[in-house]
Amino acid sequence: MKKILILNGPNLNLLGVREKSIYGDQSFENYFQNLKSKYDVLELHYFQSNSEGAIIDKLHEIGFSFDGIILNAGAYTHTSVAIADAIAAINTPVVEVHISNVHQREEFRHHSYLSKNCKGIIVGFGLDGYRLALESFLSN
Ligand code: DQA
Repeated sequence: MKKILILNGPNLNLLGVREKSIYGDQSFENYFQNLKSKYDVLELHYFQSNSEGAIIDKLHEIGFSFDGIILNAGAYTHTSVAIADAIAAINTPVVEVHISNVHQREEFRHHSYLSKNCKGIIVGFGLDGYRLALESFLSN
């Protein structure tokens, strides 16, 4: 069974509460349970942290044994050379996901330090972006 980790960064623990007009009204825990039951052919794991170091530690921990990582690094996407380096350092392919269409938003959200080191990017499909990323690991 393929092992996939969904890794969410800062403020994504507040999905369903935070800026609902942008990020929707569903909590990630709720969404993740549905995803798990729908994709029981995969071994799905979930980790969220608001801290850059914890995200890097998790990438190092599973990045040589898992089959895929779906990463929404939140605002660290636009600032973190350290997370970009961690993605480059590991073997497991990473798909970058953003719930909102970052290109329709402020200029500072248009640039990602991470994309260059990722297998692909899914942007602007709401929470469904995580499912689309999962599909990409199923078919590869
Ligand atoms: C986000 C977009 C980022 O710009 C923002 O800082 C987030 C969420 C998204 O999923 O749309 O926290 O990554």
